[in-house]
Amino acid sequence: MSNKSKKSVLVAVITVLGALVNSVSFAAGDAEAGKAKSAVCAACHGVEGISALPANPNLAGQVPGYIASQLAAYKSGERANAIMAGQAAGLSEEDMADLDAYFSSMTPNVEVKLTDEEVALAEAGARLYRGGFAERGIAACMSCHGPSGHGIPKNYPRVSAQHREYLEQQLLLYKKGERRGYNDIMYSIAFGLSEQQIKELAAYMAGLN
Ligand code: HEC
Ligand code: HEC
Repeated sequence: MSNKSKKSVLVAVITVLGALVNSVSFAAGDAEAGKAKSAVCAACHGVEGISALPANPNLAGQVPGYIASQLAAYKSGERANAIMAGQAAGLSEEDMADLDAYFSSMTPNVEVKLTDEEVALAEAGARLYRGGFAERGIAACMSCHGPSGHGIPKNYPRVSAQHREYLEQQLLLYKKGERRGYNDIMYSIAFGLSEQQIKELAAYMAGLN
């Protein structure tokens, strides 16, 4: 077996083990309490967890556990963002779990309409998302984010029903090493993607349901 295929097998095994462990190991919050704490979030993320500005991610229908983990990462500074650092600074672990329970229980935004230009980009993005990029040893995105982009609780986020601009921005941050994320997985992946491939992937994921 080549080193590259050994690496892909290893990634697949880690993914499956991770999914099994993660599906049982996070504390569930209280969605009703989360609703009461979410008023301040609605200004940017929308009352229904679907935001008006594409730089602010949609939170509705995100995988349970991921929102709490990202809020903790903003609070600790591990995920650097001035706006969200300010928002997370005053949140307790219980607040994070409650907000997580609330937003993850909401209906995701399945109404995304792509422009003609985005549809053309998405065709190339689909091949990368579903087949990976063997030349750079990059596994298929769907092996961790799911064939429909719904993600796997708690560490593999939903990437569908999300703003194209936000997805592109995050992949660029990973590529530059400015966001490293869980186990550096996405940093290693995005490092090997070109800016054009990132555009294609972002367009594809945005239109996935
Ligand atoms: C002033 C606008 C603003 C407010 C208010 C705000 N956010 Fe955010 N939020 C953002 C922006 C911008 C980002 C993207 C930051 C980045 O690039 O890391 C973000 C990112 C996030 C993410 C990461 C999502 C992902 O897909 O990785 C979570 C989770 C989040 N916000 C939750 C919240 C919660 C919960 C609140 C309320 C307590 C809140 N936000 C309030 C603007 C805001
Ligand atoms: C081996 C598993 C794995 C594979 C394969 C994978 N991802 Fe990820 N992805 C993750 C994890 C874990 C995270 C959360 C990282 C963090 O904590 O920042 C993530 C986060 C993301 C995010 C950020 C989402 C958000 O809400 O901020 C995007 C976008 C993304 N991945 C796109 C992709 C694309 C495109 C591919 C294929 C080229 C891909 N991923 C392949 C595991 C994976």
